[in-house]
Amino acid sequence: MASPHTPDIRSLWGLDYSRLIINHGSYGATPLEVLAKQDDWRRRMEAAPTLFMATELPAAIRRAAAAVGAAIGARGEDLALVDNSTAAINAILNSIPFAPGDEILVNEHTYAAVVKAARHVCARTGAVIVTTALPFPNPTADTLVAAHLSGVTPRTRLAIVDHITSPSALVLPLAEIVAGYRAAGVPVLVDGAHGPGQVPLDLGALGADYYVGNGHKWWMGAKGAGFLWAAPQHQQMLHPNIISHGYGSGFVAEFDWTGTRDWSAALVLPDAIAFHDRLGGTALMATNRAEARAAAEKLAARFGTRPANPPELEAAMSLVELPIRTDGSEQRALALRQMFYDLGCDLPVIALGGTVWLRLSAQAYNLPSDYDRLGDLVDMVCQRTA
Ligand SMILES: Cc1ncc(COP(=O)(O)O)c(C=O)c1O
Repeated sequence: MASPHTPDIRSLWGLDYSRLIINHGSYGATPLEVLAKQDDWRRRMEAAPTLFMATELPAAIRRAAAAVGAAIGARGEDLALVDNSTAAINAILNSIPFAPGDEILVNEHTYAAVVKAARHVCARTGAVIVTTALPFPNPTADTLVAAHLSGVTPRTRLAIVDHITSPSALVLPLAEIVAGYRAAGVPVLVDGAHGPGQVPLDLGALGADYYVGNGHKWWMGAKGAGFLWAAPQHQQMLHPNIISHGYGSGFVAEFDWTGTRDWSAALVLPDAIAFHDRLGGTALMATNRAEARAAAEKLAARFGTRPANPPELEAAMSLVELPIRTDGSEQRALALRQMFYDLGCDLPVIALGGTVWLRLSAQAYNLPSDYDRLGDLVDMVCQRTA
């Protein structure tokens, strides 16, 4: 197989390389080989639908869960395969019996859709959201741990912490944060939407209460391949968002049947993980991390700006400040993002901390020259906005 970040590897994806795609983080990009395996599952299903659903599917789901578990230090029976991290988080939030005045702890960098899901649960139960500030830019591991723990009160019923934050691309010091919450007696839900495939995982050692993740972002999975891991003591009270035949029959039975649907994205998770491993596995993670950081530093030097984060707190995504004066507003960031999009370039422009940043992703199909091309586009955008 060709090496990551070289031109020969690009044919493994069906991406339109006439566009400049520096945004693996948002939706991932599924390799052609994994898509072909997904088609195989669909053909098997449609060859004998009843037989497939009744006899093949249940065991196939469990095999996929076992493969996911083996890759992240977890047992298959503690894992439910769901459409995405959003579905997993909604299921957890909807299952916890929040009482009026209970607090759900989030922070300024929590994914916006997750905060909305929590807000919805609060409207129904009378629980309230407590939002802590995070140090940014240039945080340290210690200040991030302290910021996360600062929001704990005797009413905290659940803390939601990202493994890797979406707007700021920070790899949080998860072990320390989880340990701190546990010491305070606060159950912790880790939003690992960006974790699997971007950083190594060992859920057995982490000690969280819940960890949700995606196969479709960094693990080479097909779209619609999320998972929910729950510590055994929480599984009995957990229910999927859709209640069906498995109701009352336990965690696995409830989540493994939520009405008739296409399970092919979940079933190719073992193939996606195997593909990721063939590209290097942890070595690919390290290469992606090095590429993203090198790109951020090179562009910061070219623009006369700065990366947002210290290298030890980032992985395959890196934030670099745009050399554009702005009011720091979300609208301005969206307008700038549209300008890049119109120039054929897909990458997030993030308003945070009073300025705007580019969130660079590095995946195997990205070439070092992609970031030079991006530099040229930034020059063009600067001229247009001057
Ligand atoms: C931190 C975080 N949580 C949750 C999600 C939602 O992921 P999905 O759309 O796959 O459910 C995202 C998506 O980017 C994310 O960045």
